[in-house]
Amino acid sequence: MSLAIRFHEATKYAPDTIGSHPGLDWERQPRAYKEYHGDSGVDLAPLLPLDPNPFTGGPPEPIAFATGRSLAAISRWIYFAYGVTAIVRQPGGSQMLRAAPSAGGLYPAEMYLVVRDWPGIEPGLYGYDPRRHRLALLDDGPGVASALTQAAYGDAAVAAAPVLVVVTGVFERSRWRYQERAYRRILLDSGHLIGNAGLAAHALGLRMHATAAFCDEGVERALRLDDAEEGALAILALNLPGPLERPSWTALPSPAVEDAQEPSLAGLHRASRLPARRPHLVARGEEDSIALETAHGWAAGDRLAGPGCAGPAPWSGEVLATMLRRRSCRRFSGNAIPRDVLARILAASYLPERIGLGDQPGFDRTRLSTFIAVIAIDGVEPGVYYLAPHQLELRAVRLGDPRESARFIALGQDLGGDAAAVVFHTADLAGCVRDLGDRAYRYLHLDAGQIGQRLNLAAVGEGAGASGIGGFFDDHTADLLGIPRDQAVVYITVIGAPATA
Ligand SMILES: Cc1cc2nc3c(=O)[nH]c(=O)nc-3n(C[C@H](O)[C@H](O)[C@H](O)COP(=O)(O)O)c2cc1C
Repeated sequence: MSLAIRFHEATKYAPDTIGSHPGLDWERQPRAYKEYHGDSGVDLAPLLPLDPNPFTGGPPEPIAFATGRSLAAISRWIYFAYGVTAIVRQPGGSQMLRAAPSAGGLYPAEMYLVVRDWPGIEPGLYGYDPRRHRLALLDDGPGVASALTQAAYGDAAVAAAPVLVVVTGVFERSRWRYQERAYRRILLDSGHLIGNAGLAAHALGLRMHATAAFCDEGVERALRLDDAEEGALAILALNLPGPLERPSWTALPSPAVEDAQEPSLAGLHRASRLPARRPHLVARGEEDSIALETAHGWAAGDRLAGPGCAGPAPWSGEVLATMLRRRSCRRFSGNAIPRDVLARILAASYLPERIGLGDQPGFDRTRLSTFIAVIAIDGVEPGVYYLAPHQLELRAVRLGDPRESARFIALGQDLGGDAAAVVFHTADLAGCVRDLGDRAYRYLHLDAGQIGQRLNLAAVGEGAGASGIGGFFDDHTADLLGIPRDQAVVYITVIGAPATA
């Protein structure tokens, strides 16, 4: 059996085993960021449009070119993707909160910038230092960019990009708390960050291509990563607006591995590596989109995509400001939210171009199915629905109030029961692995994280609240959705009316 399937089984939460966690060793908690010393690099902090600027303490500097090909655009792109947007004071210290949410606030993802040719930044490799919002020079010259292009099998968008970012995951930051299941959350977290990066790129007059198809060893060597501690998860190629360069790809299959491997975080990451020679592309096309669109077609449909979703959403001109004020909702009131609001949140997430957010990248989007448990949406009968993602049509799987089931499957968290709607992403894991090998596990979770980020931002933009839910009883969730237990529940996002006090 594939390692991804065995890993998924081995990391399921179940009511009778959830209490067996050994407890947290606070002495061993890893830092949530890399420490970069020295001053060689580029200070991005003065270029932020914040008043007062939290890094400099002063007013924002007047900047003529903050979009397109400018250093200010890079400063903003990185900041709105993964910069520090709040600091919470706590007993015993303070915690930085970042623009992208992170399971447990552990922030396992790192960003490395690789510059070929951009105003104000010499070619080279830089580590992003979130505490100072600056780039720390790690290696100079054009060599790293060439090595990444080679590792990405000559992907033309990577080859043409004047700026690249490699997103990595530092395993122990999340494994420290979540043990082997941390791998799911590291990928989901990284997906959220990439979701921000895609939206911010569009808002800043840039274009982003994201690929998770590269030779791992080539990227690790170029960045000098210790593969036991940190894994490369995605390459983001940034460029000016224009058509996508071809050939390029976002997902390629990993070769089959022996059965003997352990179903652990490290084992699955290793087993899902891509070799030095480009694997053959797996043809995906119309038929897969049609299959997503026609599933559950026997059920009476309720189309949400009314006139409210036809034009730009009210907040689509303020995407960056929305990123700045986004926080995960900690408590819902239990009140209903209007049907149109849900419709616009879903449109932003599944049809972003339709409401003014630009074409947003995905790795292999047609692999994910969406279900929604409607708890309190004005004008929609409570129940569990399948969502046809292009028509935004809800197709009833079962009617009846799912509130208590939603609370239970979210490990008893009230965020599940008091939500207005709970969005589930699921996948036919066996089918995905058949086509894409164990690497499918990465693509699925990265994509679910990206959609999750759009759900979060759109909810905040619409005056509602949202949170990711990484902890859930897998098999009970599948039962609620009416899917076989061997289908993977990849991610849950709750949406609702925030409690005011
Ligand atoms: C993958 C993922 C899983 C999460 N799971 C939960 C969860 O189960 N329960 C919860 O209350 N918050 C969850 N969160 C929200 C985080 O706790 C939150 O992002 C983090 O504390 C940082 O706060 P912020 O999102 O407000 O910046 C999750 C976030 C992500 C990205």
